[in-house]
Amino acid sequence: MIKGLIFDLDGVIVSTDDLHYMAWKKIALEEGIPFDKSINHKLRGVSRMASLEIILSKAEKAYTEAEKIKLATIKNNYYVALLEQLSQNDILPQVVPTLTKLRKLGYKLAIGSSSRNSKKILTKLGITDLFDVIVDGNDIINSKPDPEVFLKAAERLGLDPIECVVIEDAESGIEASIQSHMISFGIGEASRFNKTHFPIKNIAEILNVIHHQNT
Ligand code: BG6
Ligand code: MG
Repeated sequence: MIKGLIFDLDGVIVSTDDLHYMAWKKIALEEGIPFDKSINHKLRGVSRMASLEIILSKAEKAYTEAEKIKLATIKNNYYVALLEQLSQNDILPQVVPTLTKLRKLGYKLAIGSSSRNSKKILTKLGITDLFDVIVDGNDIINSKPDPEVFLKAAERLGLDPIECVVIEDAESGIEASIQSHMISFGIGEASRFNKTHFPIKNIAEILNVIHHQNT
């Protein structure tokens, strides 16, 4: 019986891909490191420091730990400044009506995101209250594909992992859901992965599948 749904944030609830891209691009330009949308693509669902490592793998020089922390901080400052322009228009289609309906039907909802900016983003969008629980990059040691974020979300919802489903747009997140023994819905790029249980085009499709699973 499905009782809880755990949503990734970036790419599932809100479109922040371009903002992450712009902030990393600025760092890459300043450091003279090649960076484009295909590299940005690999950063989906990956923590800030792990993303930096992927970018620096194309650099000609080696960076010390202190330099890496400084670069990650500068990137986040750029990103947070860009988040100022975020508005309710950036909430992805059908998110609010679908989650509102799920809540009315009695399902517990959580955010399970690698981003340390999750709470800031949800506040800016005015949708914090849609979620019973928010587990993000501040609460975990290991980022997706490690299952930690989803297992912690299930625990805080007071549910068994097998009572939860995950909604993800990234390969790392689908891997994490598998390791968490949770059914996955893949949206966007994740709708094309073999490992995704339910590929969807629109988040509203969850309602039919959940209803079917529980009857
Ligand atoms: C994930 C994004 O949700 O959060 C990644 O998909 C990002 O692209 C990661 O790197 C960490 O985000 P933040 O906001 O903590 O830098
Ligand atoms: Mg995502």
